[in-house]
Amino acid sequence: MNTQSNMYKMWLQYREMPNKINKETYGEIAVIGNSPIQESIKEELTRAFEQMYQWTPVFTENLNAQIVIAINDKLNDLLSKNHKDQVEHLLDEGYIIASENNQVIITGKSSVALLYGVFHFLKDLQIGKDIHTLNITNQPKNSLRMINQWDNLDGTIERGYSGNSIFYENGKIVKDKSRIKDYARYLASVGINAIAINNVNVWEEETFFITKKYLPEIKEIAQIFTSYGLKTYISINFASPIAIGGLHTADPMDEQVKEWWKKCVKEIYDYIPNFGGFLVKADSEHRPGPFTYNRDHKDGANMLAEALAPFGGKVIWRCFVYNCVQDWRDRSTDRARAAYDHFKPLDGLFHENVILQIKNGPMDFQVREPVSPLLGAMHQTNQMVEFQIAQEYTGQQIDLCYLIPQWKDVLSFDTYVKGEGSTIEKIVAGQIHPYRYSGIAAVSNIGNDENWTGNTLAQANLYGYGRLIWDPSLEAEEIACEWIALTFDSSKEIKNTVSSMLMDSLSIYENYTAPLGVGWMVTPHYHYGPNIDGYEYSRWGTYHFADRNGIGVDRTQATGTSYTSQYNEPNASIYEQLDTCPDELILFFHHVPYDYVLHSGKTIIQHIYDTHFLGYKQVEQLIKKWAMLENVIDVDTFRNVEERLQLQRANAKEWRDQINTYFYRKSGIPDQQKRTIY
Ligand code: GCU
Repeated sequence: MNTQSNMYKMWLQYREMPNKINKETYGEIAVIGNSPIQESIKEELTRAFEQMYQWTPVFTENLNAQIVIAINDKLNDLLSKNHKDQVEHLLDEGYIIASENNQVIITGKSSVALLYGVFHFLKDLQIGKDIHTLNITNQPKNSLRMINQWDNLDGTIERGYSGNSIFYENGKIVKDKSRIKDYARYLASVGINAIAINNVNVWEEETFFITKKYLPEIKEIAQIFTSYGLKTYISINFASPIAIGGLHTADPMDEQVKEWWKKCVKEIYDYIPNFGGFLVKADSEHRPGPFTYNRDHKDGANMLAEALAPFGGKVIWRCFVYNCVQDWRDRSTDRARAAYDHFKPLDGLFHENVILQIKNGPMDFQVREPVSPLLGAMHQTNQMVEFQIAQEYTGQQIDLCYLIPQWKDVLSFDTYVKGEGSTIEKIVAGQIHPYRYSGIAAVSNIGNDENWTGNTLAQANLYGYGRLIWDPSLEAEEIACEWIALTFDSSKEIKNTVSSMLMDSLSIYENYTAPLGVGWMVTPHYHYGPNIDGYEYSRWGTYHFADRNGIGVDRTQATGTSYTSQYNEPNASIYEQLDTCPDELILFFHHVPYDYVLHSGKTIIQHIYDTHFLGYKQVEQLIKKWAMLENVIDVDTFRNVEERLQLQRANAKEWRDQINTYFYRKSGIPDQQKRTIY
């Protein structure tokens, strides 16, 4: 019996299909092998076929079945030479779906390849493809495809906007893990292969996750993820040897500290033999790290890497390191420079099983930032990029903001690090530098709300993240349409309306919030709603440096913080020169007068007025578009999105009015169109 609501089922709806495939022909399915992953495959096929076709498949080992799912060396001679060759050339996670002599064969070199193949197969059946004509070869472009949970043991989620944790409640790991299992299904269905299960800020009790106190239960979680092809990682507290180990130091060069970590890691692997490794936030936002002992990040990361190496474990070391109590009036420091300044000099000094995880921009997941210059700058150090699916600064799953276009911009950015064409996409795929490990991670946006993501349309960001990092060549709109087709009835009306809403949403959000790349202007700490002078860490400073004459942060080499010099040419010069700096980033890189004329032909101040009036209007249009779906989309989803759009309208209005008033008063320059500014 299936009692889950539509919203809960996300993109694995398995709606009843009009074009049935019949039980007589396809009733027996050969799934060869009995690892936990094969068991997951059988469960998923059962669930899907029962819901789509109203019959239950019988599993067999008979290779004469019409559907055969097996690793290639178990297929005997079922595959044609052509398909055999194709499989030979695949990576371990790649699969083919082949129609041969009336049989459908899903194969690859590993169990997880089969699982990915099965999810692809089910996706195609759901969107109505003909089972007889499937011929697909597919494999991921990135080897590490990771999700980071920022979940705390008390059940809260740092930057969570969809209820509480599905992993923890009231200081305990949840007993009923069925929701974790469903989450594993969703993640596997879009190809995610790694997960860090706790917040990067590791508080007191979570420090014990790496001990016997929690390992038996974490083992259960890890087993669930293993059966869907994901490796489990734990975020650790760098000061664990002191906090829970009884040592007086956590100095990474101290022999006792090293031994402590080795013992700790060994114990973890006793419980979880395929444990992924550690995710580490150190020396950042008051978290402990090697700086306390006059050591650097390489010392800290390598010490952990040595402990993990014998077991094949990895250290994912975050580069979100900056002085959070910096006084912004002091122009000799610039937060944007911090990651590069800390890490670039350490290139080549990290162990092979260390991967640096770098946020996509130099600041913090703003709606618009340049791409972090650290990405690709280290030729001999494994790197991965970090995105944020959780909409911390982009509307907190109240406001609609489809993020795939933003991530596509990042991936297509050319760093020129090895000449033209050295894009982030290629760097994180390990195609520019010979990285041993690389890939993409992102902060999850799910919680225990019935629909997982607060705003049901925010499911598209989770789906899209997985799809995009599997294959960055997919277009944002293509991904949106795929998600819509799987999530809703695939009527043209829904498809056109929802895809246009999603595709417009990022620029709408940008229009009514902080202008031209300057970022922030949000309520400090909370990060939703406008507070133009709001400044996070002290009374001193603003993020935007606006005065009566102008606005923006001078990050040039000529007169500013020299941040532009962290880019390769020609990017460094493009950003340095006012006349080549792209409009959308001008206030990130330059301090300019309000009457400075953009490439668009508008002055800065007029651009601010126009975009803020426009952004609000666009939200009203979103509301109108959504209203047209009232009788075609299920009631729960309709209401869920409608409510949030109303809140978004209020938010956009507040932004519009505060920004326009603030800059009108600061600059004294009226709106050319004489609209009312409150
Ligand atoms: C942001 C966010 C924090 C988070 C931090 C991080 O600053 O607001 O909540 O801990 O990023 O990425 O570590």
